[in-house]
Amino acid sequence: MEFTGADILSIEQFQRSDIERVFSVADAMEPYALRKRVTRVLEGAILGNMFFEPSTRTRVSFGCAFNLLGGEVRETTGFQSSAIAKGESLYDTARVLSGYSDVICMRHPQEGSVAEFAAASRVPVINGGDGSNEHPTQALLDLYTIRKEMEGRGRTMDGLRIAMIGDLKYGRTVHSLCRLLTLFDNVHVTLVSPPELAMPNYLVDRLRSVGHDVVISDDLAHGIGHVDIAYATRIQEERFHSKEEADTYRGRFRLNQAIYTQYCEPNTVIMHPLPRDSREDANELDNDLNQNPNLAIFRQADNGILVRMALFALVLDVVDQVDKHARDV
Ligand code: CP
Repeated sequence: MEFTGADILSIEQFQRSDIERVFSVADAMEPYALRKRVTRVLEGAILGNMFFEPSTRTRVSFGCAFNLLGGEVRETTGFQSSAIAKGESLYDTARVLSGYSDVICMRHPQEGSVAEFAAASRVPVINGGDGSNEHPTQALLDLYTIRKEMEGRGRTMDGLRIAMIGDLKYGRTVHSLCRLLTLFDNVHVTLVSPPELAMPNYLVDRLRSVGHDVVISDDLAHGIGHVDIAYATRIQEERFHSKEEADTYRGRFRLNQAIYTQYCEPNTVIMHPLPRDSREDANELDNDLNQNPNLAIFRQADNGILVRMALFALVLDVVDQVDKHARDV
């Protein structure tokens, strides 16, 4: 794909060679993310960071990634702080704000809304999550993390065994991750959820269409038994009709240290896009896993900086200039 000036809206845009390109640039960003080196390559550039749904990681790491490349960040958070609350259209908002920014990141509760916004924008737009549809940068950082964790165990992506657990119906991160896994060979996917929150059929069909082995289960112990990665997700309460409806599913698939020790292989990596639900009797990943060295959730969040720095550098076509505008700390 041609990265320069591109909108990043869906994982469908990426071929395997594109993923390798993003990951290679992400690797090169590490000294800057660790503040061993400083670059001013995006000095004078402005990121419009527009989040119309709550976010900690995606919003802040987009902003930090842009700052680490030397750029400035202007944020809009929530509809109430935007003229959208007065009835302004996405089209008008995009036309206006793209005049103020060099690139825009956006999260919005409606599926397809970020693509609609991008169609009107005069600068590249990166999807930070559109409803239950996609979260492409999360899938990229998830895959980057899986690759690193597997390399540390002498393994490659091909032949990966992964279980996705929880709310697979509304969880946009697992939707994007499934799409991404179709680019690799011979992946074994176990989908563990209540039947009502199953992975959409079209994504199961996509996985099977490239020859991946897909097992569908509502049994956590069975699902996590023989996998390299156990990827847990939160019940996406905000997508349900009511909190009471979400409560009927909360706490159904809880992974804790005792269950991990009993059912997982000793090296199984535990992932979660976060946030995890910390409410008593509801948390899908118990705090007693925090000392487990295979818990990769915070390494995952850290990798978000590298991957988002890489995407900014690629989309704004400054990859080759990052080092020229840099100094050691
Ligand atoms: N993983 C993720 O999207 O987290 P936030 O909702 O905090 O951005």
